[in-house]
Amino acid sequence: MNKITIVGAGRVGESTAQFLAAKNLCREIILLDINEGAARGAALDIQEVAPLFEYDTRVIGSTDHALMVDSELIIITAGLPRKPGMSRSDVLSSNIPIIDSIVDGAMKYAPDAILLFVTNPVDVITYYANLKTGWPRHRVFGQAGVLDSSRMASFIAMETGFSSMDIRTMVLGGHGDTMVPMLRYCTIAGIPVDTFIAEDRLAAIVERTRNGGAEILALRQNSSAYDAPAASVAEMVDAIVHNRNRILPTVCLLDGEYGHSDIAIGVPAVLGHNGVESIIQLDMNEAEQAMFDHSAALVRKDLDVLKSLKP
Ligand code: LAC
Repeated sequence: MNKITIVGAGRVGESTAQFLAAKNLCREIILLDINEGAARGAALDIQEVAPLFEYDTRVIGSTDHALMVDSELIIITAGLPRKPGMSRSDVLSSNIPIIDSIVDGAMKYAPDAILLFVTNPVDVITYYANLKTGWPRHRVFGQAGVLDSSRMASFIAMETGFSSMDIRTMVLGGHGDTMVPMLRYCTIAGIPVDTFIAEDRLAAIVERTRNGGAEILALRQNSSAYDAPAASVAEMVDAIVHNRNRILPTVCLLDGEYGHSDIAIGVPAVLGHNGVESIIQLDMNEAEQAMFDHSAALVRKDLDVLKSLKP
């Protein structure tokens, strides 16, 4: 890719820029923030890594949305982070106006771009952006499940001592306490995970995965997670840039898939050059579908809040 814009030079935005540059995923990164010093400082800092990590990516920090022009991909990380004790939904009303102005900028300056949302509550924000842009859903989607799945894989690696490289996990549903870990599809070197881990320990891993973001926030107190979230975005961007057709859990606008419409939520998607190339419809068993429906019901509660914000 030639040009990627990252909006939000907070910790997630900055780490994302660093990972994208280190992976040589594009020639130019525009890092935008309402705080000019933060954007320019982060951009310069990352630029100064280039000779050490050997990349050619140019990183430019600015406050000016016009620099989005010709971006093929825009990653939105801007927004207020939650504080300890807050849920992701608690930042909805403060983050919608922020997203609004960013999406306005994207529609004006980069109407052909792919939009990848990270800002929480990511399911609601992704839904909102789909509605606002009216763009095809394959280029307006969000990151959540790659992070949740990576967390779960890490906990399985810690539990078993096996290489995290051999562990495959899939976490679907909303990015909240009701996310849906698909244990049937969790494997270690292709072997079902319950071969190695007893039921009660697996239940504990599922619980820890659901609280993965809150666990880090409680430890750090003054910051949410940013390393794993940024690496998760980089994984999705890599799939898009290299047209890999990877199957990654992605927050997508649904149109009947999994029995739901008019909602954005995490489902397995094929990511390639066009963004979401397709959504994979799995045959869920009764328990999985019930978990998914429950998760969707909670996302819909936030969508009701969203509707009350936008008359
Ligand atoms: C987390 C936040 C970023 O899961 O949603 O860490």
